Amino acid sequence: MVKFQSPTGMHDLFEEDIKQLHKIEKISKDIADFYGYKRIETPILEQTNLFEKGTGMLTDIVEKEMYSLRTKGGDHLTLRPEGTPGIVRAYIEHGMQSLPKPVKLWYMGPFFRHERPQAGRYREFYQFGFENFGVGEPVIDAEIIQIFYLILKELGVKNLIVEINSIGDSQCRPYYKKALTHYLKARQNQLCPNCRRRLLKNPLRVLDCKENKCQAVIKNAPQSLDYLCQECHNHLKSLLEFLDAQAIPYNLNPYLVRGLDYYTRTVFEFKQTGKDEEENQQTLAAGGRYDTLVKLLGGNDTPACGGAGGAERIINIIKRKTEKSPRSKNFEIFLAQVGEMAKKRSLELISEFFQAKVPVKFSLHKDSLTTQLKTAAKLNVKYVLILGQKEVLDGNIILREMKSGKQKNIPLKRVVKEVKKKIKK
Ligand code: HAM
Repeated sequence: MVKFQSPTGMHDLFEEDIKQLHKIEKISKDIADFYGYKRIETPILEQTNLFEKGTGMLTDIVEKEMYSLRTKGGDHLTLRPEGTPGIVRAYIEHGMQSLPKPVKLWYMGPFFRHERPQAGRYREFYQFGFENFGVGEPVIDAEIIQIFYLILKELGVKNLIVEINSIGDSQCRPYYKKALTHYLKARQNQLCPNCRRRLLKNPLRVLDCKENKCQAVIKNAPQSLDYLCQECHNHLKSLLEFLDAQAIPYNLNPYLVRGLDYYTRTVFEFKQTGKDEEENQQTLAAGGRYDTLVKLLGGNDTPACGGAGGAERIINIIKRKTEKSPRSKNFEIFLAQVGEMAKKRSLELISEFFQAKVPVKFSLHKDSLTTQLKTAAKLNVKYVLILGQKEVLDGNIILREMKSGKQKNIPLKRVVKEVKKKIKK
């Protein structure tokens, strides 16, 4: 018999995970409302060449991580590996270019990358993202960074640090690329085979390599900061001043380049500083400025800046924390029923409790009162309501206080109100 499993790197989500996803979504929404970002959801599938052009042909994502397919109609589509190109497509397609600037959008949903699965790296994962179109000023970069800082803090992630760099623009980056290529070519024998290949196509990508031998070369490589033109330099300086003013802890990392091709000037990554090496290295949220992407995808020349957070990585941190300090949620009421007539009336009662927003536990599939009382005791409830045939016929229900064992009859008609009063106390 075939044993079916979820696809590698893709997971079933259970109650606890979904609750955490909702929490991230709720906090993101509250912050989005506060800062004036409007929700947008784009399709899970987009044309393959949107990512080839937007994310970049030479990125790991496009080179090896996309789930691409050909439809029966002959369209080439790809499961979205990231959100930004789809949002830019929607921004252009729906005439948002003519809206007053900035246009602020946010989203949350599943994304897909065929990566090697490991802790915090999945093939299906959730991202929440914020994109801001139309303003090139560094204050917008600061706003985006502030938004992610606040969301992560609100979610209880401690010891946050944002790594920042500027990778320049089309004016100054070619000079940096040239200097970097020159440096790396002279040391290509010390690089891993992957980086030797990267060196020919996109030398900046070498700076991303985690291999020890490449790290040793990168350590002394030319830094983009030394090649910035005056405008890019001022832009970064001003952004850092905004961050200083907000007391957001940052670390200027001259070798941060990010794995996507569209960035100009600012790039940033949020990490958690901690004792655990593994935790340290995980990027929780990341992004940057992308002033040329809208034009590249067929729109007007529009500066833009944004970022996205990885929900699972954040949930893993929150979960570790709550495991250390478990909080048990107590239900206060258990409804026990005995006999067919009481079972029927209980269903009606449960719907009354639901509509009155009074949480009640029950085991309708159980018949024995003793078993139901045992369950109630395990749940540690304060009160049990007991409904038997006699009670239904008399129009009453028994309310029993678990601790003292004291019981009294309450008219069925008034039970929801009475119980509501009791649990408010
Ligand atoms: P990214 O850095 O590729 O940027 O992804 C953003 C975040 O998604 C990462 O920091 C990480 O937390 C999470 N993430 C990425 N890949 C995985 C994975 N395989 N498993 C689990 N989590 C993952 C972007 O996607 C850009 N679109 C961000 C952006 C928006 N830039 C400008 N606007």
